[in-house]
Amino acid sequence: MAIDFNSLDNRFTYSTREADLTWINKIKDICDIKGKKVLDIGCGGGIYTKALADMGASTVTGLDFSEQLLTSAKEKCKGCSNVDFKLGNALDTKLHDEQYDVIIERAVIHHIQNLNECFKEGYRLLKRGGIFLIQDRTPEDCLLKGSSTNIRGYFFSKFPSLIDKEISRRYPSQKVLQILQQTGFNDMKEYSLWETRKVYKHVDDLMKDILNRTGRSLLYELNDEQLKELAAYIKNQMDLSNNETIIEKDRWTIWKATKF
Ligand SMILES: C[S@@+](CC[C@H](N)C(=O)[O-])C[C@H]1O[C@@H](n2cnc3c(N)ncnc32)[C@H](O)[C@@H]1O
Repeated sequence: MAIDFNSLDNRFTYSTREADLTWINKIKDICDIKGKKVLDIGCGGGIYTKALADMGASTVTGLDFSEQLLTSAKEKCKGCSNVDFKLGNALDTKLHDEQYDVIIERAVIHHIQNLNECFKEGYRLLKRGGIFLIQDRTPEDCLLKGSSTNIRGYFFSKFPSLIDKEISRRYPSQKVLQILQQTGFNDMKEYSLWETRKVYKHVDDLMKDILNRTGRSLLYELNDEQLKELAAYIKNQMDLSNNETIIEKDRWTIWKATKF
């Protein structure tokens, strides 16, 4: 069963965190956001929409095809005067041509079958000189071994059947770069990021996060019983004392491309 982004149950799945400093600093290194008109495609619960506004963008538009997630994104960004939201599809946003300095799609492309159309739409919306930032996990990122920080790696050692599911929806870097080039983008660059996903003060908080499938669409492939087994397995593998802080990190790839 795949995640349903329009379900009321998943409304806060992508809004309960704040963007981590590891992400903010990496984006600042890659691209100047200050004073820029930014479009956050597949904004989900608005975590990164808010961060981009706080980083000094002149305006940030968050776009998503889920009404439920847009509701929580609006709530998340209610203190930001320079943010607005649009309901729309990444492949055909209905927004005007050439109006954005920066477009970001974070954790979106693995949900998209037709990457050509998706990148064409990004290209159409960018001004000349505009920057397209895509962040997602490649098969290599996903299959790194489980550790005290890379907790997601344990999903695959416990349930190897998840490997195919995960790999089949992830784009290899070469494919992303190839489609960006075919679309007409130039000056492509690729970066790696270990982004802190969450800090848990107690192992029980991590268990709760897993059992609730918080922000982890892959875990919708497991039934409730399997999920409990996974939580127990992770607890055992990590061999933690009860009061040890856990810093969970995910490895991501970020691609930057410019419209000349
Ligand atoms: C994993 S969430 C990421 C949310 C947010 N970017 C983040 O990083 O927290 C993926 C988001 O992409 C949205 N999405 C997926 N396919 C889409 C499409 N074709 N058009 C618009 N939004 C889409 C989903 O509704 C969901 O909010």
